[in-house]
Amino acid sequence: FTPDKIRNFGIVAHVDHGKSTLADRLLELAGVIRKGEKEKLLMDALQVEKERGITVKAQTAVLPYKGHLLNLIDTPGHADFTEEVSRSLAVCDGILFLVAANQGVQAQSIANFWLAFERNVTIIPVINKVDIQGVNVNEVETQMKNLFDFNSNEILRISAKNGLNVDGILDKVIERIPPPSVSLSTPLKALIYDSYFDHFRGAIALILVKEGEIRRGSKIRSFHGDKEYEVQEVGIMRLEMIPVSSLYAGQVGYVICNMKSAGEARVGETLFESVTPKDTITPFEGFRKVQPTLFAGLFPLETSEYESLKQAVERLALNDSSVVIQPDSSRALGLGWKVGFLGVLHMEIFASRLEQEYDSTVILTQPSVEFRATIKDNETIRKKRYGGEGEIRILDASKFPNEGDIEKFMEPMVKVRIVIPSEMLGQVHSIYTESRADVSSIDENRLLLLWRLPLAEVITDFFERLKRVTSGMASFDYEADGYDDANLIKMTVSINGKEIPEFSQVVRSSTAAEKAKRMVRRLKEEIPRQQFEVTIKATVGESKKSLASTVIAPMKRDFTQLLKGNFGKGGMERLNKKLGHQKKGKERMKQIGNVQIPKEAFFNVLKN
Ligand code: GTP
Repeated sequence: FTPDKIRNFGIVAHVDHGKSTLADRLLELAGVIRKGEKEKLLMDALQVEKERGITVKAQTAVLPYKGHLLNLIDTPGHADFTEEVSRSLAVCDGILFLVAANQGVQAQSIANFWLAFERNVTIIPVINKVDIQGVNVNEVETQMKNLFDFNSNEILRISAKNGLNVDGILDKVIERIPPPSVSLSTPLKALIYDSYFDHFRGAIALILVKEGEIRRGSKIRSFHGDKEYEVQEVGIMRLEMIPVSSLYAGQVGYVICNMKSAGEARVGETLFESVTPKDTITPFEGFRKVQPTLFAGLFPLETSEYESLKQAVERLALNDSSVVIQPDSSRALGLGWKVGFLGVLHMEIFASRLEQEYDSTVILTQPSVEFRATIKDNETIRKKRYGGEGEIRILDASKFPNEGDIEKFMEPMVKVRIVIPSEMLGQVHSIYTESRADVSSIDENRLLLLWRLPLAEVITDFFERLKRVTSGMASFDYEADGYDDANLIKMTVSINGKEIPEFSQVVRSSTAAEKAKRMVRRLKEEIPRQQFEVTIKATVGESKKSLASTVIAPMKRDFTQLLKGNFGKGGMERLNKKLGHQKKGKERMKQIGNVQIPKEAFFNVLKN
């Protein structure tokens, strides 16, 4: 296939607008799978993806069609993975921009449109699900015209489900999307746009060959990693990996060459032929390195499971280059890790993959964001306590600086895009009153809200509340938007005067009181009565200003006394069983001062 017969394209859509369904239809159309073979389909390969119905890891399939080679580049469809969408778009010359007729343009449709628009790729607008009874396709068309400046005659109307008008789509792809602009006659240059890790074969890099050819057996080099490899295998993806002898300029495929980790197959990396002098190579622009925005503690439920969990975590991290892992430990929870994630969903997926694929039961603590602080311009202070740094990162309360050393604090902000039915504006405003949203209308029934919020607000329960007040009618998307000055303070929890570092948090001053009350209330629920009175207290700052406190009254009667003389039939057996449980439970108790706290209490209070 010469480059002019190749098309590299993707499908982007808001969650559930039918991306996977359309991909299936296109694969059938090109004869890659037979009708109804969907179960075997690998587009949603991972079990978690299936369960949650979202596509996480980008996968690619080659569709041979009417003498052309159409490479369908799969893109993830959730807010946490914007950066990955952006990477996939870097190898696409065009996209099918899918909007479901029953829901119309949603928050992620808008976000995705702009990602594609900024990358200057051809956008083919498609309205899907036109088969649904009673949908107003014209209205959706109007939205697309008004918001994105499309013309009526370029908007396709299809049903990915029953196949209506789907057969014309690949023709449109050939007609409207330009072939890749590449060069066959120059030496190899290829871009790694995605990679994953195979336990048997090492890192597998997905590449777009921009110049020349990559052959099995040839020697290549990575530009940034500056390592030499021998190509063991190259191939194309047709659900499975199909080895070929060479990939030529314009083609998308995979390469396996003894890279030891997904880190070596760094996304954005440039590969070139070993014989080419490095100084003659201009590397690809590369991608912004994805930075984790959320950090959570990860611990095994049972301390004895640490070693096996460690292996599982390391293996999973090899496969997911966006997680960042550091060892962590706590007196109450034992050995574990501090893990950085792209967002809440990414965190949930990571945890559920650990449980499903590696059979590990894990506890994730409530996530926190990366706060920052500027240290006063005083060299002695900076050198003595902050390694000479003028700005520090604060990932958890243990890193909270001395109040007197601080010039200012900063917190990460996000831009949130929300689409809602117009009449719900009031309710939506009520969930966050600290600032107001920018409101514009999508059509006569729906509004687009743009909000700039602290990320710390968004990760607690902002989206949950949004769903609740709009009965699930809102759609949303968010992206990082720099740092703002903030008022931060350290909240500390003590039990009978003894401070418990596990429960300390960095909080925004405006939410401190509410957080303190909640923490104290939850602890009261979790800590069993003791022989004596237990006081739980939450304070803030170095002055230890008290924000909330409560008392757990002492136990009144002994448990065994209570049951004495009241055994009845099977009573003794029940009692022994109960005592057996208690004994087991004792082993899991943590001593804080003279107070016994079950390990579960820590988990329950700290977890999401
Ligand atoms: P993510 O992977 O989460 O991004 O979702 P997706 O965009 O891939 O959506 P998917 O293809 O999984 O479709 C979501 C739901 O819409 C499924 O229940 C499909 O059966 C249904 N669906 C997809 N296309 C059509 C269509 O043309 N008509 C109707 N009625 N339903 C459709």
